[in-house]
Amino acid sequence: MSILDNINPFKKKENQSNQNNSASDKAALELANGMIDIQDAIAPGAVETDFNYIVIDGWFYRTLFVSGYPRFVGANWLNSVVNYEHSLDISMFYYPIRSKDILDDLRRKITEFETQRNIDKESGRIPDAAIQAALEDAQSLQDQLVKGAEKFFQISFYITIPAQTLEELNYVTSDLMQTLATLLLIPKIASLQMEDAFLSCIPQGLDKLMITRNMDTTSIATTFPFTSSMLSSDEGIMYGINKLNNSLVIFDRFSMPNSNSVVFATSGSGKSYLVKLEALRYLVQGVEIIIIDPEAEYKNLCKTVGGNFITFSSRSQNKLNPFDLSLSVEENEDVLDSKITILHALIKLMIGELSPTEDATLDRALTETYRIKGITKDPETQVRNEPPLMEDLYKILQGSNEPDARLLTDKLERYVKGSLSGIFNSQSNISIDSKMTVFSVQDLEDVLKPLAFFLILDFIWTKIKKDLRKRILIVEEAWYLMQREDSAKFLYGLVKRARKYFLGVTCITQDVDDFLKTPQGLAVITNSSIIILLKQVDASIESVGKVFNLSEGEKRRLLSAGIGEGIFFAGRNHVWIQVKASDAEHKMITTNPEEIIKAQELKNQPVHNIKIDNTITQETPTYKPQQIPTPQTTLEAPSNPTSTNPFKSI
Ligand SMILES: Nc1ncnc2c1ncn2[C@@H]1O[C@H](COP(=O)(O)OP(=O)(O)O)[C@@H](O)[C@H]1O
Ligand SMILES: [Mg+2]
Repeated sequence: MSILDNINPFKKKENQSNQNNSASDKAALELANGMIDIQDAIAPGAVETDFNYIVIDGWFYRTLFVSGYPRFVGANWLNSVVNYEHSLDISMFYYPIRSKDILDDLRRKITEFETQRNIDKESGRIPDAAIQAALEDAQSLQDQLVKGAEKFFQISFYITIPAQTLEELNYVTSDLMQTLATLLLIPKIASLQMEDAFLSCIPQGLDKLMITRNMDTTSIATTFPFTSSMLSSDEGIMYGINKLNNSLVIFDRFSMPNSNSVVFATSGSGKSYLVKLEALRYLVQGVEIIIIDPEAEYKNLCKTVGGNFITFSSRSQNKLNPFDLSLSVEENEDVLDSKITILHALIKLMIGELSPTEDATLDRALTETYRIKGITKDPETQVRNEPPLMEDLYKILQGSNEPDARLLTDKLERYVKGSLSGIFNSQSNISIDSKMTVFSVQDLEDVLKPLAFFLILDFIWTKIKKDLRKRILIVEEAWYLMQREDSAKFLYGLVKRARKYFLGVTCITQDVDDFLKTPQGLAVITNSSIIILLKQVDASIESVGKVFNLSEGEKRRLLSAGIGEGIFFAGRNHVWIQVKASDAEHKMITTNPEEIIKAQELKNQPVHNIKIDNTITQETPTYKPQQIPTPQTTLEAPSNPTSTNPFKSI
């Protein structure tokens, strides 16, 4: 019998046809045999069955069965199998058994154990502990079954491993067997039964191996496999709805080892919407939000919540001085030294790569610039004296008689005297004490944006280090910083050290490939506990799949994901999420031009109109915090932390 005989429910019924011998039936049968049906369409070219694997169309499959279970299991104990990093087909069969039949058996067993124990006692031997344990298990089960508190089941548990090569199959098999062993499961390869074993794992509800084990209701409930897809904590904010079971995805990023996150998706997929929503909800909990916004798309939100919207351009009054010092000392950190390193990177971004001698000249000039202002490594001097400006550096270089200084002076000139002097050559006059601070660089030329990003980030970093508060820093279009190694390194350094300063950094990017190509980009991902992937495009799906270990199904689903839909990874868990905002929130964060125009029209309506229409009166966007609803449905296993499998020793 071939594998497909079992798979196909539409199989032609040959037996029936034997009974109908009429000529017309024969003709009909011949016709049917010659037609293409579903079986023909889905059948693989070949199925090769070996002792301990089968090969179907070049793919290798091996099935394991579980022959032994642990004595104690806790809720969600199968998590590491369900979330195993390689694709697996897992099949579990539950067979309810009538309690009456079991009770008869149990009575006999209990008598057996008691007799054995009594014999031991009478002959002066110490009773066997295993028998004592088995007896207690059997008695407690008998008790539960008689009261109807528990029901009796048998379970069978099979896992099929797919792999593209035999080496991969062998490797995953041994790794999986080790994982199972750590759960105190005893896995075995279904050698010489591969075809039946494979069939037991395909979704047709057919257990051809029938390797069963006894379990009671409580133990069997803990094997429910979908607990991993719940991501509902008691604390945190609601990110959206779990697409699998409609539960709420509630999570606190500050509960993770680091509070960083990355959001990767194509343009228009809802990245900014999600991040704004998160910011709004954290704001209510007293977390400060700082945003670097290249498109001024956070303006509405910022104004509504009474935040500080800082436009950053050569004409604006807002100034940042790159020479500002953080005035707070990390362990073993020399504030001045690290500032000079950062300034060095910034100036390289401004004027391009430097030769080693130019590098050295610049370093000396930077130290001298601070020294002239009375600032040295002594922290006292750093607090007391005003930091220098870019023009101070320029003057030092001008006055220097080193051969490279002249070249550097020329290159720096446009930032001190030219059209760009407004941006880089003034004392800072910005504070980030507001609940929400948005730095908008929309009005800057594109070439200057990476530079401005760096400058703003450095400024924020110096301020953040000064006083510790729970903060989220959102970097929109973070790939700007990934374009140059210096700025990429800076972003990575910031992400890595953010935890110490109670800061969560959110990096958003639509140019996923740019981000994944750089070692710093990958390092940012490794240092982010939360990863959110929304809709992806063909060009980048393979690299995304590789970095985030996505299955084929997940990749396909990400390609066709709707707006605000994607995968939410938090630590080892991940769920399919649909980002949802309330109506009031939506009005504040949408960038849909149609909706914005409509909202503005409503706002501009004469007052007497507003009084007539109740819905319009509510239009004035005052923000009310959204209540986090308590989850209605939970798919979690029973809450008791451990339950016993009383059959282990029987
Ligand atoms: N979860 C969502 N529910 C409803 N509308 C959304 C959702 N996410 C995004 N949108 C809308 O889709 C559009 C694009 O979203 P946006 O966040 O600007 O995309 P991106 O930042 O990825 O380019 C906006 O008009 C936004 O209002
Ligand atoms: Mg956006």
